[in-house]
Amino acid sequence: MASKKGVALVKTKTVNEGKNGPSLFLTLTFRGEGKDDPPVDLQARLWENVAHVEGGIRTGELVMAEGQLINYNNETQLKLSRIDPLKATREEIESFIPRSKVESGKGMERIREYMDSLSDPHLRDFGQAIVSDPEVKELFPRAPAAKRNHHALVGGLLEHTLECLAMGDAIAPILSLNRDLLLLGLFLHDIGKCWEISSTAGFSYTDEGRLVGHMALGVEKCTQVAKRCPEFPERLLRLLHHFILAHHGELEYGSPVLPATPEAMAVHMIDNLSGQVFAMRQVVAGADGWGYEKNRGAFIYKGGSDPAKVDRTPLGEGARRVFDP
Ligand SMILES: [Fe+2]
Ligand SMILES: [Fe+2]
Repeated sequence: MASKKGVALVKTKTVNEGKNGPSLFLTLTFRGEGKDDPPVDLQARLWENVAHVEGGIRTGELVMAEGQLINYNNETQLKLSRIDPLKATREEIESFIPRSKVESGKGMERIREYMDSLSDPHLRDFGQAIVSDPEVKELFPRAPAAKRNHHALVGGLLEHTLECLAMGDAIAPILSLNRDLLLLGLFLHDIGKCWEISSTAGFSYTDEGRLVGHMALGVEKCTQVAKRCPEFPERLLRLLHHFILAHHGELEYGSPVLPATPEAMAVHMIDNLSGQVFAMRQVVAGADGWGYEKNRGAFIYKGGSDPAKVDRTPLGEGARRVFDP
């Protein structure tokens, strides 16, 4: 098997105490092979000499890692022979944190345009108020949409939300859905991620994220913002809460309620589509063109789709505005 040596960011670190002494389990982020390739996460394991090395290895810092690439449970893993901590500047560390290609200022402006375009005065008021909320303005452009599975990028929440809004805008007339509610639901569904996951290296969960979770945090923010909107109807606030609480679609996936309106079902499906397609795209393929997506336990054929060659023009104005620089 091939060997690998290079600088990497320590994304996660766990020390496991075993019968034969401690072992070190790491997720390391390496730079992509090509100049424009995104950083790649690799599971790395150190089985020997762990007690001596472990103290110097810290999450969010850089290391020089060396070892053999092996196949374990359908996944490429790095069996470390050596790992040394490196001193690095904040900028050097930042360059290893994967980030969205969506430019944050333009992306936030696009969300504001969607909110300005809502026709119901109460919902438009609310949409404009929440996009102008100081915390949302500060945190939404940087927040990742998830810790791993999909859009785990600085700016990933913004990219994921723009994908969802563009799809919602296109789908609303086809399925006779209430465009105002659908677009607001799509904007709000994951807004709690702003407070749930930190946007620094490793995208760790915050204390309030662990204690309360992104759905409750999103509901809380909506309630706060609704108080600032004169005479905001209680029924509409409940419908907005429902989008957030139902967006995982199933009780076993963490939603306390099932989607109860066609728009809430559409938010769940659109959210899922954006996430699932992203997760497939980030699978790294082996020489035979096949890669393994751990989350779904499915093999993915990379020989059949090259996103770089996709002509986005037929998708319409919404999609072009999400992705074009
Ligand atoms: Fe979610
Ligand atoms: Fe989402």
